[in-house]
Amino acid sequence: MHNPSELDPHNIPGHVAIIMDGNGRWATSRKLPRIVGHKVGAESVKKVVAAARQAGIKVLTLYAFSTENWKRPELEVRALMALLKNYLKSEESEMLANGIRLRTIGRTDKLPAEVRSQLRVTMENTGRAAEGREDAFTLNLALNYGGRDELLRACRQLARGCADGALQADDLSEKDLANCLDTAGLADPDLLIRTGGERRLSNFLLWQASYAELYFTDAMWPDFREAHLFEALQSFQQRQRRFGRTGEQVESRGPRSR
Ligand code: FPP
Repeated sequence: MHNPSELDPHNIPGHVAIIMDGNGRWATSRKLPRIVGHKVGAESVKKVVAAARQAGIKVLTLYAFSTENWKRPELEVRALMALLKNYLKSEESEMLANGIRLRTIGRTDKLPAEVRSQLRVTMENTGRAAEGREDAFTLNLALNYGGRDELLRACRQLARGCADGALQADDLSEKDLANCLDTAGLADPDLLIRTGGERRLSNFLLWQASYAELYFTDAMWPDFREAHLFEALQSFQQRQRRFGRTGEQVESRGPRSR
């Protein structure tokens, strides 16, 4: 199924998150350096962003660099940072024209200075251009991101609030914690896709993915294009999301009610 018109337009996930895995294996299986896999992976990013917008998805979160990825060879880390910066530069006009707003999650303050300044410029420009647009789309890049690190930072923030008397520990709610996460203001992901054949979350959106539908595919990220996204969306549309209720309750309330 490669035709987006075959999808139910009333049941498109608002927020899709993707663990883009398999770049290295894609390259080494072709006797190419790993970085070539990342380069082709950046092409997949472009295609998937366009396809996601076309399908009616509103937020796309991509796991581009984890808190653990610093352990990779320095050359690979440097190449990934350069790719990211080039992507932001080369895609900015496309983003501005199409109402794509860039946002990030993760400790971006630890990224190299030239990546940080490019991120700042692209976020400012795309934020301004997307303002007020009904078709605005958020591209949320997880950079130096780890779910545990994010939760720990949120806990520290809440603890500080309790210590200075602004918050009461016994009154804290899930909403209070969610508001301290990097994703504050964004709806939770409805669908979480992982490419590359592994079936784990790898420290990605640990809090936010509580009710996400999980979709695993053996396709390596550099091969993941429009058709693969539509297959994932089709799989999503075949599932019944119950959020703790019974199937009968969900059927009587309609599929989108939570
Ligand atoms: C995982 O594959 C992928 C990454 C750690 C980096 C993802 C980066 C990109 C897709 C390109 C740049 C990003 C943007 C947003 C332009 P892996 O290297 O772990 O693959 P392997 O498991 O096969 O080794």
